[in-house]
Amino acid sequence: MSDNPADYPSVSAWNRRSEREFVDGFPLAYPVFGEASFKEPCLVVSGSDGSRVVRLEFVEDRLREVDGRPVLDLVFRDDLLGLSIEHRFAVFAEQDLIARSVVLQNAGSEVLTLERALSAAIPLPPGEYDAWTLHGQWGREFGLFSRPLLPAKFVTESRRGTSSHEAHPWFAVRPRGETAEHSGSVWFGSLAWSGNWQAAFEVERNDAVNIVVGIQPFDFGWRLAPGEQLATPELLVGYSEEGLGGASRQLHQYEAQVQLPENHRERLRPVLYNSWEATGFDVRAEQQLALARRAAELGIELFVVDDGWFGARDNDRAGLGDWTVNPSKLPGGLRSLVDEIHKLGMQFGIWVEPEMVNPDSDLYRAHPDWAYHANGRESTFGRNQLVLNFARPDVQAAMYEQLRNLLKDHGRIDFLKWDHNRNWTEVGWPEEPDRQREVWVRHVQGVYDVHARLRSEFPWLMIEACAGGGGRSDLGILRWADQVWISDNTDAADRLQIQYGYSRAHSPRTMVCWVTDVPNQQTGRIAPLEFRFHVAMQGVLGIGGDIGEWSATDLAIARRMIEQYKQLRPVVQHGRQYWLVPPAAVGPCAVQYVSAAGDASVVFMYQVRGIRGAGARRARLRGLNAAPRYRRDGWAVERAERRKG
Ligand code: GLA
Repeated sequence: MSDNPADYPSVSAWNRRSEREFVDGFPLAYPVFGEASFKEPCLVVSGSDGSRVVRLEFVEDRLREVDGRPVLDLVFRDDLLGLSIEHRFAVFAEQDLIARSVVLQNAGSEVLTLERALSAAIPLPPGEYDAWTLHGQWGREFGLFSRPLLPAKFVTESRRGTSSHEAHPWFAVRPRGETAEHSGSVWFGSLAWSGNWQAAFEVERNDAVNIVVGIQPFDFGWRLAPGEQLATPELLVGYSEEGLGGASRQLHQYEAQVQLPENHRERLRPVLYNSWEATGFDVRAEQQLALARRAAELGIELFVVDDGWFGARDNDRAGLGDWTVNPSKLPGGLRSLVDEIHKLGMQFGIWVEPEMVNPDSDLYRAHPDWAYHANGRESTFGRNQLVLNFARPDVQAAMYEQLRNLLKDHGRIDFLKWDHNRNWTEVGWPEEPDRQREVWVRHVQGVYDVHARLRSEFPWLMIEACAGGGGRSDLGILRWADQVWISDNTDAADRLQIQYGYSRAHSPRTMVCWVTDVPNQQTGRIAPLEFRFHVAMQGVLGIGGDIGEWSATDLAIARRMIEQYKQLRPVVQHGRQYWLVPPAAVGPCAVQYVSAAGDASVVFMYQVRGIRGAGARRARLRGLNAAPRYRRDGWAVERAERRKG
């Protein structure tokens, strides 16, 4: 970073510039196309005459209070175009974060077309930086990558419909070469959006950096009629001098104190059982009840029936779209299963995938036009399913109605796992030619809206977000979902990496982790049960194995570990998290949690593969109070690989 302020053009230099001077390298909070700048812009608007030149004049600043917190609005206008724009800076002093967004309003009399409407720009002073971002794929989500920012642009994004497995809408920028977990400057951001998004990092001529983030501009278009407005998603931005760890704790606090659904924000997440890996599509009442009895004996608090209970769902070729109980699988109806599970002292949860449809379903037979399609073009299938056009108000209404009936007709359903299992293709809406490029955004708004309506009608309901594992784990969905299924990969050693990456951006109370069987269904690897438990205890503990087949010894271990987790849970789920030793493919790994008051701490330390006895035995603890003495309460040592013999 340059220490010389002269290297960074000032606001007064900006004001002194002649009207037609190019303005590259100036720090702009919201560059727009039409200024004499070649920066990556946040805003492109075309007027009714096709012009795309925007010139904003400052109108006023307004300081408001929202929920007791200050919000600064800076209002600008382009009278020629008839556009008004409010830049919002919502200040979260406790978490030391700012939520940036804009509201674009058509204040004129002609229709405007928004070609690009990002949330914010972050200008950084001239310097040498690295960008840190999260990338992956199905089963390998949340890999942490860093790369130097050099002349030219680096773009990270999703164009798949959801925020995606491939890239996660979180980023950090650090001075070049700095990697320390607990120290060093970090500028960071997280976009609260569950659809297509983009973040572009651009090194300018003077080595200043321009970062722009928001809704993906590719194939985006929004018709803004006179009087209408569009509010962009919030980009949460912050700065830490405590490395990526410090940045993550600010984001965790924001989730815990501001973003998560308020009614369950402080509620300790229940230990859950999910029957997917045990029974697959072959859901039957008796077999689920047998699992439930076992689960209750183990101390499980929430029993979740996954895919396979509805419609003609014997495999993934049929049934999606028909959210009614399959009577041959649950002959006594869903209600009797729900009641039995409640009688066992557990809550009841169920899986749905409301944005999807199989062509082999009553819904599709009645409404083939409800799935995205392009006239005259064959549709592409993913897992034999199509994506419903959730931009359509009638689709939203129909799916809301089905979910509402599910939740009210079968006794009290406490929990929904809301899945989304394929990327979008042929994203067309031929009946609305003018609105086709709006669907990427309207779909996500529709999903949020259905969540909001369900939550208000069924306030006890908890929702788990899922998209083929962690394909839609973002700050946006965490306004409506209480927790996230972050990966279908439940191999404990792989999970350490995935959970580490996830926790850069999101809090332990939202991170669902299952203990599953060995050899692991996805990876074929074997690890001891205690290790699997200790890894799954890092967030919201769940069991996903076939406990009907577990030995008496394993069941006894499980009972003991679930009991232990319940004791540690307040610190794990609500404490501050410190990665003492980030995970590596071979070697030690340690993570610590400290209660808000600093009076209790939990440490998990692992040795992943490698030579027995050669792992690290020490790690310097963090976040403890200097004065008091701490008493060690528990001590368990397990190895990550099955011992010989
Ligand atoms: C997705 C989810 C799994 C499971 C299956 C069911 O892959 O990530 O956890 O729910 O769908 O089909």
